[in-house]
Amino acid sequence: MRALELAIIGGTGVYDPGVLSDVRQVTVDTPYGTASALVGKRGDKEIAFMARHGYRHTVPPHMINHRANIAALKMMGVKRVMATCAVGSMNTAMPPGSFVFMDQFIDFAKSEVRTFFDGGDRGVVHVDYTNPYCPEIRAALVSNARRMGIIASDGGCYVCTDGPRFETPAEIRMFQMLGGDIVGMTGVPEVVLAREAGMCYASIAMVTNWAAGITGEPLGHSEVVEIMQANGERLRELMMLTIDALPDERHCACGHNAPDMPWLGRVDV
Ligand code: HPA
Repeated sequence: MRALELAIIGGTGVYDPGVLSDVRQVTVDTPYGTASALVGKRGDKEIAFMARHGYRHTVPPHMINHRANIAALKMMGVKRVMATCAVGSMNTAMPPGSFVFMDQFIDFAKSEVRTFFDGGDRGVVHVDYTNPYCPEIRAALVSNARRMGIIASDGGCYVCTDGPRFETPAEIRMFQMLGGDIVGMTGVPEVVLAREAGMCYASIAMVTNWAAGITGEPLGHSEVVEIMQANGERLRELMMLTIDALPDERHCACGHNAPDMPWLGRVDV
C-alpha cells in the first residue's frame, strides 16, 4: 500500500467518499483547531476524504476552518488535493449542469484569515499564484471528463464571495466586468492555503445555477444541492478515474519553493 498522498475535499452535495474501501475516521489536532477526515483505499492508493461543510452540511461557508482542514491534510502527508464545489455561472459558455476546471480566481471573500504565515516565529511569506490550480491534475480531469462525455470547460475564473448569502445582480455584473466566469463561496482561501503548504490543488466546479440576475429567477440552496446530488455519481467517477490516471510523481511546479512549516508535525494515519 502506498502512503496517503491524495485527498478529496467534498463541497456541497458531496458528503461521502463513495467508492473507497476499508474506510476509517482520522481526527487531527492542528494548531488551528481539530479536523477530521475519512481515510480509505482505492486500488493500491490511500485516499483521504474531507467534507468541507461537515458530513451533514452543518458548517456554513464563512465558518469553515480552512486552516485546520489544510493543516490536518499536510500533517497526514497529503501532497495533492482534488476539491469539488458548487458554483453559479455568469458566462453563457458555462451553463448549469456543466463542469468547470478553473485556472484562475478573484478573491472577494474577506471574513477569514487567509494565510498560515502570521508573522513572528511563523514568518512572513509572499507566495506565487501565477498558476493557482495544479495544471497536471487539471489536464487529467479534462481528458477524463472528455472521455466520459461530460460537458466541461478547461479553465475559468472563479470569483469567491464570503456568503452565506447569494450575490446581488449588481455584484454579478461587476464580477462579469472583471473577468469572472463562475461564483462560489468556499474555493478561497482553501486553494491559497494548499499552495502555501506545498500541495497541488485542483477544483472541479459543478455549475448548479445561473448567477443572480441572469435569468431573473430567485436562487435557492435546495436547487443547488439537488443538482449536485443528481451529478454526484459522475463527479465521483471522474475523480476516481483521475486518481487512477495520475502519475505517482508530481511533474508540476506546485510544490516548488514551498515555505517550511515546522510547527506542523506529522501524524500517523
Ligand atoms: N453564488 C455563490 N455560490 C454558489 C452559487 C451562486 O450562485 N451557486 C452555488 N454556489
